[in-house]
Amino acid sequence: MRTTSVSLLSCFLCYYLIYLSICFSVASAKCFQDEQLLLLQLQNNLTFKLEHSTKLKLWNQSIDCCNWSGVTCDDEGHVIGLDLSGELITGGFDDSSAVFSLQHLQTLRASNTSFFGQFPHSIGNMRHLSVLDFSYCQFNGTLPYSLSNLTELSYLDLSFNNFTGQIPSFDMAKKLRRLDLSHNGLSGAIPSSLFTLPLLQRIQLSHNQFNQLDEFINVSSSILNTLDLSNNDLLGPFPTSIFLLSKLSVLLLSSNEFSGSIHLNKLFKLEHLTTLDLSYSKLSVNVNVTNVVLVSFPNFRILRLASCSLKTFPGFLRNQSKLAFLDLSDNQIQGIVPNWIWKLQNLQSLNISHNLLTHLEGPLHNITSKLSVLDLHLNKFQGPIPVFLENAIYLDYSSNKFSSLIPRDIGNYLSFTVFLSLSNNTLHGNIPTFLCNASYLEVLDLSINNISGTIPSCLMKMSKTLRVLNLRNNSITGPIPDTFPASNALRTLDLHQNKLDGKIPKSLANCIALEVLDLGRNNIADVFPCFLKNISTLRVLVLQKNKLYGNIGCPNTNGIWQMLQVVDLSFNNFSGKIPGKSFTRWKAMISDENKVKSISNQIWFQFQQLGEDIYYQDSVNVKVINEDVQLELVKFFITSTSVDFSFNHFEGSIPEELMNFKSLNALNLSNNALSGKIPSSIGKLRNLESLDLSQNSLSGEIPMQLGSLSFLSSLNLSFNYLVGKIPPRGQLTTFPTSSFVGNVGLLNGNPNGKEVEDLLKGNPNGKEVEDQSQEECNSFSCKIDWNFISVEVGVFFGLGFVYAPLLLSERWKIWYWKLTHKILCCIFPQLQFEYVRNRGQTYTVLRWQH
Ligand SMILES: *[C@@H]1O[C@H](CO)[C@@H](O)[C@H](O)[C@H]1NC(C)=O
Ligand SMILES: *[C@@H]1O[C@H](CO)[C@@H](O)[C@H](O)[C@H]1NC(C)=O
Ligand SMILES: *[C@@H]1O[C@H](CO)[C@@H](O)[C@H](O)[C@H]1NC(C)=O
Ligand SMILES: *[C@@H]1O[C@H](CO)[C@@H](O)[C@H](O)[C@H]1NC(C)=O
Ligand SMILES: *[C@@H]1O[C@H](CO)[C@@H](O)[C@H](O)[C@H]1NC(C)=O
Ligand SMILES: *[C@@H]1O[C@H](CO)[C@@H](O)[C@H](O)[C@H]1NC(C)=O
Ligand SMILES: *[C@@H]1O[C@H](CO)[C@@H](O)[C@H](O)[C@H]1NC(C)=O
Ligand SMILES: *[C@@H]1O[C@H](CO)[C@@H](O)[C@H](O)[C@H]1NC(C)=O
Ligand SMILES: *[C@@H]1O[C@H](CO)[C@@H](O)[C@H](O)[C@H]1NC(C)=O
Ligand SMILES: *[C@@H]1O[C@H](CO)[C@@H](O)[C@H](O)[C@H]1NC(C)=O
Ligand SMILES: *[C@@H]1O[C@H](CO)[C@@H](O)[C@H](O)[C@H]1NC(C)=O
Ligand SMILES: *[C@@H]1O[C@H](CO)[C@@H](O)[C@H](O)[C@H]1NC(C)=O
Repeated sequence: MRTTSVSLLSCFLCYYLIYLSICFSVASAKCFQDEQLLLLQLQNNLTFKLEHSTKLKLWNQSIDCCNWSGVTCDDEGHVIGLDLSGELITGGFDDSSAVFSLQHLQTLRASNTSFFGQFPHSIGNMRHLSVLDFSYCQFNGTLPYSLSNLTELSYLDLSFNNFTGQIPSFDMAKKLRRLDLSHNGLSGAIPSSLFTLPLLQRIQLSHNQFNQLDEFINVSSSILNTLDLSNNDLLGPFPTSIFLLSKLSVLLLSSNEFSGSIHLNKLFKLEHLTTLDLSYSKLSVNVNVTNVVLVSFPNFRILRLASCSLKTFPGFLRNQSKLAFLDLSDNQIQGIVPNWIWKLQNLQSLNISHNLLTHLEGPLHNITSKLSVLDLHLNKFQGPIPVFLENAIYLDYSSNKFSSLIPRDIGNYLSFTVFLSLSNNTLHGNIPTFLCNASYLEVLDLSINNISGTIPSCLMKMSKTLRVLNLRNNSITGPIPDTFPASNALRTLDLHQNKLDGKIPKSLANCIALEVLDLGRNNIADVFPCFLKNISTLRVLVLQKNKLYGNIGCPNTNGIWQMLQVVDLSFNNFSGKIPGKSFTRWKAMISDENKVKSISNQIWFQFQQLGEDIYYQDSVNVKVINEDVQLELVKFFITSTSVDFSFNHFEGSIPEELMNFKSLNALNLSNNALSGKIPSSIGKLRNLESLDLSQNSLSGEIPMQLGSLSFLSSLNLSFNYLVGKIPPRGQLTTFPTSSFVGNVGLLNGNPNGKEVEDLLKGNPNGKEVEDQSQEECNSFSCKIDWNFISVEVGVFFGLGFVYAPLLLSERWKIWYWKLTHKILCCIFPQLQFEYVRNRGQTYTVLRWQH
């Protein structure tokens, strides 16, 4: 009895243990051992950074692999999904990778990883694969043809890689719903069989180099709703088969090389179409849509017909009540903008820039429009500035013929405005203080007008939000208000060519984000603005043509202007030595060219529209204005670096520190009183394209190293006291005589040498003539760089007698110019020479000063 009970008990215990162990093993065997091993092998083979890993690094042998981050199993415990997206993986993914042995895998995602090289062909082994996403990786080479074997594929995303070559056939992928191969280097023909895949809804092949799209047939049952072939090299006439894709909602064909024309009438069967972009496709679009087709005509939400050879304003738009974004820019539309356009109740963005439009049809009162982006730039609009949109965020009226005062009540219409450009019109009068009511304004551009009066001091106070203030080329007078608030956002302050006087305001030092400061061509009388030294973001400093004076050395120059790329102090009264020590901190100049680019020398701003939500039209969600139209600042690039200290009274030698500016493209120290030798370390300025040291008192020989500057295309060493031979090296042999004249001690040393001597003989007074002329006229307008007189001069004045001699020899050119200039200078005191830099060339142009 006892034994039985004991044995029963032990049996029971035994069972219990077995049960437990079964339970345990069932729990832990959820993931198949062999698959777990494969995953571990994969983890072992991939190279990834532990600190950036959120998934792979947590894969742990002692945890069931179905619980690992990024791994999905089916009910049986087979691994069916693997998602490594966002892990910074490199390498370790090739045909032998353990992934390809996971026979049950249905989903494989690894976007935003750093995989590179050829995509493994073994992908064709994965018969059950339905989702494949390796977008935003760095694969190159051709797409593996074995992709054709994936018959279960429903979603394929290999966008944003560097794949090249043709695309494989997807004829077998009958279940494919979405294909995204955009942003690669794929080429050849787009297979027309794609369009016959019965379940395909979305094809995205934009930003490749496809050049052929054949007509296709048998697509009546196609359920394709998105076709994006933009930014390719597609040739030939518009593929009319597209009109048969009756479920199409989004059609993007912009930026291609099509030919011929298309009549929008043909779209009448595409009643689901909401987005159409034919911009820059080289197609000429006929927009004369006849009433007959309007019944089933698409109701667009986004319509882009930029550069489509439109001649008239498309009348059919009047019935497009759902239209939200309209781009008709870069066409030849003439005449008036019809008034009904403002009554399209959903219109948010209208771009009619770059046309031949002259008027907005009135009346423009009491218009209630959602329109928040209006771009009218580069047309022929006349009359007063139209301000009538209460919800405007972005207003570009630049480069027209608007001529009026800036309207007094403008501030009432700028409650939400972020960008306002009235540049390049003929506006006059003062800057109204009402402008300061625009409390969200980030960019205000009033440049190139006839605006006069003083700058309202409230404008400077706006720089709490204002990022760009451009008042360039106007007739604004008075001092710059000293009212820049503490902590402000100003990046660009451009007051170039006005009539400002007074001093550089001390509160400018508050602009600690300033990148561009251009006060050139004013009447500012002050010392060098050392107090701006804490603006570490400064890239461009132009103080040219003012009445600035004194030394330019700053005491305690810690951290001064490390980003500086363009410095123009020319035509001032600066004096003393050029302070070499200050330059050691201009890091952007010192760094190698590549590094400068990687600091990304971006300075100017332009707005771009975002958030158009192109791919999600089906889920009709017309958002509120301010969220839908997002604006982003896009920056331009400044690629050149230059230093211009010309036409001052600097003395002493050329500082050795200047020779460390490896990224410098142009250096102009001409017309000063510099002495000593040209440093032989000048050979370090490897990127130098233009060098002007003329009209100084430099002595010694021309250093050999100058000949090693391979980009040097403009050189002027004339009128110094240089001696010896012109080194017969590299670039130096290619410069004309005029680069060296006026150096009495310079001897025949190269093929040009003979000519130099001749020239000096022929014009023995060389330097003296110049000195006299300076004394006689004694103004800036009479100091010229004789040797870079451009042919523009003659054209500018239509003075045949001036132009003709320029065609003669260099010698005559210079001699004649000295003479004529002397005469002209005394006859016309307004005459003025100015430096123009164009593609690395510095040359002088005669300008009439108003
Ligand atoms: C992957 O790792 C295993 C050992 O874990 C090794 O035998 C195999 O060669 C590796 N494969 C690759 C492609 O690195
Ligand atoms: C794996 O998990 C066990 C238990 O949770 C833990 O003790 C061990 O440290 C982990 N190993 C690694 C490499 O994270
Ligand atoms: C594994 O996942 C299951 C269900 O999600 C959970 O209950 C269990 O705690 C997890 N085990 C581990 C070790 O994380
Ligand atoms: C991958 O990166 C791109 C660009 O950085 C981003 O737009 C996208 O959302 C990322 N995708 C994933 C899955 O992280
Ligand atoms: C793809 O299928 C073809 C036959 O349909 C076969 O010859 C080829 O080996 C397969 N490729 C791969 C990588 O599986
Ligand atoms: C991919 O191509 C782009 C443009 O062709 C290039 O700039 C980039 O360096 C390439 N990336 C790789 C990883 O090859
Ligand atoms: C792919 O990129 C690698 C470097 O990432 C390069 O060595 C190889 O030549 C490239 N292959 C092709 C076909 O461009
Ligand atoms: C068009 O489709 C039909 C049936 O769907 C098929 O019989 C015919 O061969 C197809 N024609 C072409 C040219 O593919
Ligand atoms: C538009 O088409 C209609 C009918 O074909 C024609 O009468 C009309 O003149 C056309 N209008 C323009 C501006 O071409
Ligand atoms: C188009 O709009 C005009 C005026 O708004 C209207 O008279 C006309 O009936 C509309 N046509 C269609 C087809 O809706
Ligand atoms: C604008 O509308 C108001 C009332 O809504 C009206 O009093 C005024 O006369 C209108 N102005 C013009 C110019 O139509
Ligand atoms: C000013 O406008 C004219 C056309 O009116 C244009 O040709 C010129 O390029 C514009 N200048 C600038 C600087 O935008």
